[in-house]
Amino acid sequence: MKKLIAANWKMNKTVPEAVSAAKELKLLIKNSKNAEVAVCPPFTALEAVGKELEKTKIKLGAQNMHFEDSGAYTGDISPLMLKGIGCEYVILGHSERREFFKEDDVLINKKVMSALKNKLTPILCVGETLEQRSSSKAREVIDKQLRNCLDKVNAKQMQNVVIAYEPVWAISRGISNTKPATKEDAEEMHKFIREFLGNIFDSATAKNARIIYGGSVKPENAEELLSMPNINGALVGNASLNAKSFAEIVKAAEN
Ligand code: 13P
Repeated sequence: MKKLIAANWKMNKTVPEAVSAAKELKLLIKNSKNAEVAVCPPFTALEAVGKELEKTKIKLGAQNMHFEDSGAYTGDISPLMLKGIGCEYVILGHSERREFFKEDDVLINKKVMSALKNKLTPILCVGETLEQRSSSKAREVIDKQLRNCLDKVNAKQMQNVVIAYEPVWAISRGISNTKPATKEDAEEMHKFIREFLGNIFDSATAKNARIIYGGSVKPENAEELLSMPNINGALVGNASLNAKSFAEIVKAAEN
């Protein structure tokens, strides 16, 4: 399975900045063969970045969406709109959406179902807080998030879902010295997620599921995290804002 390296630019970059980063990135990774790369700019830059990335293998993704195709939802963006400008991926249930916008598992599940219906690949984020980890509840939290967010998803649809394990305590929030999970801790949770998928779907679905890691991934630690057997890629925040450091992470996934 090719590793998926996805850039989550969060609420950063104006349109010219985003286009210039995409331009730089496509040159830097033009020889990359063994990794699949996706860029998730803010909504305003999606179309322009998509045009810049035309005729490259770099895929386009959004950071959120509404679950309805259209309607009176002021300020929101629908799956049809994303599909219409060439998005293939959509990040759903990111911990920042859960925390700052009070998104819950029921809402995230509606979005997952809607993304699948509209042939967008959801990158479904799950992750525990530091408090939950310290009180040994990490597995319980991930189990519940997955169970709820994947409600009504069948094994065939699951082939088109990416799970991103993003421990909330490891996300940099723009502070570059945050520590990622150790490769052992990340691997343990990824293995747990794969076993969970084996239990609710079947062993083939679990084996083929893409489970990627997010939280302070940088060029310095990408290779060791990506070398773990159950880590199938990375969702990169801060380090993806710089095309050179993101390209180095892509290179680490090639090995
Ligand atoms: P950082 O890489 O900045 O820790 O962010 C991770 C993340 O939230 C990606 O979705």
